[in-house]
Amino acid sequence: MARLHVLTLTVSALLVLAQAAQIRWMPLGDSITDYGCWRAWIWERFQKDGHDVNIVGSQVAGEDCNGLAFDRDQEGHPGFQATDIAAKGQLVDWLKQNPAAIVTMHLGTVDILRGMLSGLEVLTALGKLVDQMRDSNPAMRIIVAQLIPLPAMDSEVREFNAAIPGYFADKNSTASPIWVVDQWTNFTSADLYDGIHPSASGDVKIADRFYPALVGAIQSIQGELRA
Ligand SMILES: *[C@@H]1O[C@H](CO)[C@@H](O)[C@H](O)[C@H]1NC(C)=O
Ligand SMILES: *[C@@H]1O[C@H](CO)[C@@H](O)[C@H](O)[C@H]1NC(C)=O
Repeated sequence: MARLHVLTLTVSALLVLAQAAQIRWMPLGDSITDYGCWRAWIWERFQKDGHDVNIVGSQVAGEDCNGLAFDRDQEGHPGFQATDIAAKGQLVDWLKQNPAAIVTMHLGTVDILRGMLSGLEVLTALGKLVDQMRDSNPAMRIIVAQLIPLPAMDSEVREFNAAIPGYFADKNSTASPIWVVDQWTNFTSADLYDGIHPSASGDVKIADRFYPALVGAIQSIQGELRA
């Protein structure tokens, strides 16, 4: 009887632990990640759906998003190129400061905008960033965005986005899955306020696309904790 009781306690304690484990999500990117309200709308949905997520990063962005008191931490660096971040090992330090279980990455826009590098070089940089994420956490859940449109460099962005699924399918692994999220399709010029950054409607679209992938990543972590 006593032993059964202990067993019951242990099982329920593990279940509570699995359910209560707070999940750390790092939104990684440039100004498209730093500005606007898409992270706020995702945070709001986490609260509504009961997902206990700590949004992490060395930066704090101060937009007013309907007065929402959301978790403003993030790793969006205005003007940063993926190629620089990868070459300088900056993400290594950011993840040391703020370890994460999930990273979303919307990066490459500034590289393409500056027109200095081929799409392959930028893709290779994103691949290196994925390696650095896995060095930090071998079970990292990684969500890679196909970029929102950049009308000034439309064909370059299309080409870059087209190469993303195949490139990351090759880098996929069971221990550290990568999911590609299409942030391009149906994103119109009305969803951009200055030809680069999302407008209010763009923020809603970005949140709508990332959210199911984030929930999938959370569930895959929780499934592992319970197994
Ligand atoms: C990686 O594997 C997961 C799990 O099988 C799958 O859902 C995902 O689409 C794969 N990612 C890529 C980029 O192929
Ligand atoms: C694109 O927009 C149309 C019309 O608003 C909608 O029906 C469709 O589901 C959207 N597709 C995607 C991939 O979001």
